[in-house]
Amino acid sequence: MRSYYCGEVRAKHIGETVTLCGWVDRRRDHGGVIFIDLRDRSGIVQIVSDPQRTPQSYQQAESLRNEYVVKITGRVSKRPEDSLNPKLPTGEVEIYAAQIELLNSVRKQLPFQVSTADNEPIKEELRLKYRYLDLRRERMAKNIQLRHAVVKEMRRFLEDIEGFIEVETPILTRSTPEGARDYLVPSRVNPGQWYALPQSPQLFKQLLMVSGIDRYYQIARCFRDEDLRADRQPEFTQLDMEMSFMSVEEILDLNEALVGHIFQAVKGIKLPRPFPRLTYAEAMSRYGTDKPDTRFDLELVDVSDILKDSGFKVFSNAVKNGGIIKVLPVPNGNESISNVRIKPGGDLFKEATSMGAGGIAYIRVKEAGKIDTIGAIKDNLSEEQKQELLTRTGAKPGHLLLFGAGDTAIVNKSLDRLRMVIGEQLGLIDESKINLLWVTEFPMFEWNEDEKRLEALHHPFTAPYPEDIDEIETARAQAYDLVYNGLEIGGGSLRIYQREIQEKVFEAINLTKEEAYGRFGFLLQAFEYGTPPHGGIAYGLDRLVMLLAGEESIREVMAFPKTQQARSLLTDAPSSVSDRQLKELYVASTYEPEED
Ligand code: AMO
Repeated sequence: MRSYYCGEVRAKHIGETVTLCGWVDRRRDHGGVIFIDLRDRSGIVQIVSDPQRTPQSYQQAESLRNEYVVKITGRVSKRPEDSLNPKLPTGEVEIYAAQIELLNSVRKQLPFQVSTADNEPIKEELRLKYRYLDLRRERMAKNIQLRHAVVKEMRRFLEDIEGFIEVETPILTRSTPEGARDYLVPSRVNPGQWYALPQSPQLFKQLLMVSGIDRYYQIARCFRDEDLRADRQPEFTQLDMEMSFMSVEEILDLNEALVGHIFQAVKGIKLPRPFPRLTYAEAMSRYGTDKPDTRFDLELVDVSDILKDSGFKVFSNAVKNGGIIKVLPVPNGNESISNVRIKPGGDLFKEATSMGAGGIAYIRVKEAGKIDTIGAIKDNLSEEQKQELLTRTGAKPGHLLLFGAGDTAIVNKSLDRLRMVIGEQLGLIDESKINLLWVTEFPMFEWNEDEKRLEALHHPFTAPYPEDIDEIETARAQAYDLVYNGLEIGGGSLRIYQREIQEKVFEAINLTKEEAYGRFGFLLQAFEYGTPPHGGIAYGLDRLVMLLAGEESIREVMAFPKTQQARSLLTDAPSSVSDRQLKELYVASTYEPEED
C-alpha cells in the first residue's frame, strides 16, 4: 500500500514518486496552497497541494481535517530555500500530492489536539481516557518505541551473547512472599479457593534452576496491590533473571555488561565500568537512604559522638535512647535558605516532619571558625564541641548545618528528604548525568515493630554472607540493588540452596517449619532434590525506560497504565460484575457503599 514511512523520506528520494499513509497532523491553508503534515509512527512529512500544480488532489486536500486517515501519492521535491526546516528529519523535502485518497475520517470532535505542533498541556485523565489518541502523539510514540528497543536489546544480549533462555511462568499461582498485598482470583472449579497473581516469578525461577535451565530470563508481568506513586503501578514489568553456578561478582559483571549494552544500543552512550559500589551501611551513613542520588554531593555527617553529652536535650536524649545525631551541611545555605523555611510552618520543616522528625535544629556558620548558634542550641555547645563540629562537617563561612536527632531511621529519612529537596532547589543536580551505582551487603533482616519480630529485608531465600552465619540476626545478605540517579531500578541476590542455612533463616524470622512448608513447601521440597548454587536479579523495566526517556512517571512509558487509584480510565476497570458471575465463583461482596 505504501513505499515508506512518513518520517523516512529524505533528500535522497527527491524525484521519486512515493505513496505514504498516515494521519493528518495539521492542515494549513496558505492562500490557495494547502500544506498537510502527514504523520505516522515514524514522524511527519510535508505534503503540498495547489490548484496549479496538483489540481487533481486540491479539492480532496481542502476537505481534510485533523486526524483524517489518508493515502497520498506524489513526487518528492526539494523544499524552496526559505522553507527548509532543519528541526525536522524530513525538513529538506516536501511531496506534491498527485493523488489523495481518504481512507477514513474523524466523526467526533477530538478530545484534544494530537498534533506534534501542539504543545498545550493536556490533562492526564483525558490522555488516559483516550489513550489510543494520546499514543499517536510524538512523545508517546517515541516512548513506546524506546521501550520496545530496550526490550529488544535485552533479548539480543541475553539470548545471543549470554545464552539465556526465556521461560514463561504462571500468572495464576500461589502467593509469593514479596511483601506487598496480592491480587486474588477466585477459582470456580475449586470453590472457596483462590489463586494469586504473581508479585514476581521469584519461586518459579528458582525452581527452574533446580530443573537445570541454568540461565533463565523473562519479560515478566508482576502484580502488587500497594500504594501507587509515580514510579509504582499495580501491574508492571520486570526483566527477571536467574542463573546457576555464578558468584556475586560474576552476576554483577554480567549485569553491568547487559546495562552497558542497552545504553550503548539505545542511547549511544558508553557507560564507564565497573559501576561504583556502596555498601548498604555506607549508603545509609552518607546519604540516609539505600538508593542515594549521587549526582550531587551534600553528604550527611554523623556527629553523635561529638554532641551526645551536649546540654541540648534533643541531642543528648537522642543518643541516650539509642538513636543518632546527624548533620546535613549546606554550603552557602546561609544565603539561600532563610530561618522561616526551617522553623515550624516552613516548607523544609514540613518536609522533615512528614518523614517523622519532630523538627529541624540548625546552626549558621558566620565568620571563619565561628558559629552562630540559634534557638534552643544556643549556649548549649562548648567551644570544643563547636570546633569539632566545624572540623567534622568541613563547614566554611556561609554554611548552614541542618540537624536531625532521634530514632536512626527517622533521622535518615528526614535528612535524605531534605538533601533531595535542597539539592533540587539549589540546582545542584546535573540532569545530564547518568549515575549507576550498586548498593550491596544489605542486612538480612529488619525489625518489624508492629509484629515485634525480624523479617527478611528482601525475601527469606536470600543467602547470608558465609562469614556472618553464626550471628544470623545481624548477618549481611549477599544482595544487591542497582540504583540509577536515586531510583532503584533493579535488585537481586544469591539464594540459599542448603537446608541448614534455610532453616536458620526461618528460625530468625520466627517462621516454624510447618508455616514455612505451608507457604512455600513446593520450593523447599524441590530443594531436596539437588539444587545448584544460584542467584538472580530483576529490573523494573518501566522505571528503566522512564529514566532513559527522561520522563518523570512510569505511566509515560506504559501503553495502558492505571491511575493513582488503580483504575483504567479507558476500559473503566475495575468494574462490578453480575450476581451470576459472583455466584459461580462462590463469592459474595461485603462492601457497603457509603451513604451520601
Ligand atoms: P523487587 O521487589 O526489588 O525484586 O523488584 C525488582 C524491581 O522491580 C521494580 N518494581 C516496580 N516497578 C513498578 N511498579 C512497582 N509496583 C514495582 N515494584 C518493584 C523496581 C525493583 O527494583 N524477585 C525479586 C528479584 C530477585 O531477587 O531476583 C524482586 O521482585 O525497579
